[in-house]
Amino acid sequence: MIAIPAGTFALVTGASAGIGEEVARGLARRKVPQLLVARSGEKLAALAEELRALSGVAVETIVLDLAADGAAGRLAAATEGAGKPVGLLVNNAGFGFYGPQEEQDLDRTVRMLKLNIETLVDLTDRLLAPMRARGSGYVLNVASTAAFLPVPCMAVYAATKAFVLSYSQALHEELLGRGIVVTALCPGTTRTDFHRVAGLAPGASVRFPSLSAKTVAEAGLNGLSRGKAIVVPNLLDSAWIFTGRFVPRTLPPKIAAAVFSRLKRSSPV
Ligand SMILES: NC(=O)c1ccc[n+]([C@@H]2O[C@H](COP(=O)([O-])OP(=O)(O)OC[C@H]3O[C@@H](n4cnc5c(N)ncnc54)[C@H](OP(=O)(O)O)[C@@H]3O)[C@@H](O)[C@H]2O)c1
Repeated sequence: MIAIPAGTFALVTGASAGIGEEVARGLARRKVPQLLVARSGEKLAALAEELRALSGVAVETIVLDLAADGAAGRLAAATEGAGKPVGLLVNNAGFGFYGPQEEQDLDRTVRMLKLNIETLVDLTDRLLAPMRARGSGYVLNVASTAAFLPVPCMAVYAATKAFVLSYSQALHEELLGRGIVVTALCPGTTRTDFHRVAGLAPGASVRFPSLSAKTVAEAGLNGLSRGKAIVVPNLLDSAWIFTGRFVPRTLPPKIAAAVFSRLKRSSPV
């Protein structure tokens, strides 16, 4: 069971779509008050209305570009600093792109590093301080199965997720016995807008076994409530991640290159 202190909120980044939207629905079913963050204000407002009706608890929205400079500071000021303490943080907002690194736009790469890593660490550090003081808290960081191996044609994205996994696992150990759980959620292919945003052609990701965003979100919330360090929602993914430990380190990227370099592309969003 997820139990946050009375008067505190769950803060969910990237709640306007996909996995974040389903995490927000899952928290609403658990009657957890929430602060929802993304850039799409209308989508957030519609979701907040639905979740207030579903849960009967407070659900507020904050429209913010989390890849912008100083975003974490602004978000912490609008939540913890504005009398809305955060008892549960879900760092879900993120994006990737598909294609050889030499063809990637540098500005877009830097925005990805900011969103997937810099804002995530900055926000986590700011919100963990009051959680430590309260001796209670939850952090769910959305990584990816791409965290477990270098992925040619998604080089920077996979590296950002390797960072999120490593960072989350280390924090999990640091905070053991202090009333704070840090969980890395590592989904494989999930049926969301992620692939279109990343520039994969429609249907290109269907060659991978996929899960719904709701299944992934529930796996994350259940893992968090059980105090897990890492959650891999798809059993097939768990199997290749386990097997990958017993092969030479140079082999998985070669296999990934053979699979990923053949996927059809469209224009990234
Ligand atoms: N789908 C997959 O196969 C898969 C697999 C492994 C891991 N993941 C990870 O799961 C997380 C969620 O992805 P998803 O699959 O749910 O993708 P999605 O459907 O594209 O949702 C992405 C969410 O992030 C928000 N977001 C993107 N850029 C933002 C920014 N600059 N500032 C604030 N919010 C921003 C989007 O909202 P706005 O556009 O409204 O800002 C949206 O709510 C990501 O971290 C992704 O890396 C996805």
